[in-house]
Amino acid sequence: MERTDFQFVDRTGSAAEPEKLIPPIVVPKEAIEAEVERLAGLPAPPNGRRVSAIVNPLAGVGSAFAPGTAVSLSVLKPGEATRPIRHNSTQVNFCIRGGGRTRVGGKWIQYEQYDVWNTPPWTTYLHVNDTDDLQVRLTYSNSALLEKMQVHIVEEDPPAVTEPAEDAGSKSHGQNPFGTFQITDDGGFLMPYEKLINPDVVPHKPLHFPWKKVKQELDKLTSLGKSYVGRRLYLLYNPATGHTNGTTSNFFATMCVRPKNIVDHPHRHVASAINYYFSGSGFSIVEGKRYSWKAGDLMLSAPGWAIHNHASNDEDVYELTIQDSPLNIWMGSLLWQENLSQPMEALGATGGFTTNRPAA
Ligand SMILES: [Fe+2]
Repeated sequence: MERTDFQFVDRTGSAAEPEKLIPPIVVPKEAIEAEVERLAGLPAPPNGRRVSAIVNPLAGVGSAFAPGTAVSLSVLKPGEATRPIRHNSTQVNFCIRGGGRTRVGGKWIQYEQYDVWNTPPWTTYLHVNDTDDLQVRLTYSNSALLEKMQVHIVEEDPPAVTEPAEDAGSKSHGQNPFGTFQITDDGGFLMPYEKLINPDVVPHKPLHFPWKKVKQELDKLTSLGKSYVGRRLYLLYNPATGHTNGTTSNFFATMCVRPKNIVDHPHRHVASAINYYFSGSGFSIVEGKRYSWKAGDLMLSAPGWAIHNHASNDEDVYELTIQDSPLNIWMGSLLWQENLSQPMEALGATGGFTTNRPAA
């Protein structure tokens, strides 16, 4: 009898097909502002969260903007607060208007426009708008990926504030009596169940990157001349992500300055890139098509593996870029081609690239 709950799909001898690329998207400032006004006009919901997912219908399951990344727009009116929540997804938070306070675990963060901070996994948080202006945030989450995997677990009103991550780490430092031992000369080990269910904890702290501080450092990079072939940016680095160079385990957040009339070299990477421009204007060429953008626009600028480059018009550009590079580095899948006439590398697995900037 034929089974319907599975089937064999014969791929014998079939060649790999190239991945289909989804097109870039520019969500214009005007559309974002109109949605902010619409959210602000709603009655406050019981959980306090006025939020709109920015959904790309081509990005698949998970209210996704890029296949692995959800982006949402949150609005909090003066005097409002959100109810506590936690989930196994992690977030990069970016305040694009106003300011306020957030409690993440046991830590309060006071934030202003263009500040960035991360929300570690399974950590209770809430937001407060203690200012006189509307608070508007963009939130980048790996919930899109977890929803594709059907394992995005969200807890509304968790019973108590969870311990800060740094305290949680100390619980696991006890000696494990069940050893892990080498079994083959080539370096394979056997690990017992007791260690499997009690891995070393790498605590992730909520880290706050105030824009005022970041900008001071970023602006120094404008002195790199026009011949510089790298990017004038800083990664907002969370050391807990180690060699995956992340802000969270999934995403890096970079703050970039593009001096006026700079044209980047075309390149590509399997990580998707989402840019929010907050000063200046310019354009991107993605897979041969030109897309214009300006301050206040949100752009899916590099759907994975698309050849792309960006250029500024006649004023300096500031932008926040979110890429799912750390996840890809951890998987060994971050193919990157910095120069299209040179070979690609799997970053963090086979190698990397250099720029023409002399070492300090
Ligand atoms: Fe890129």
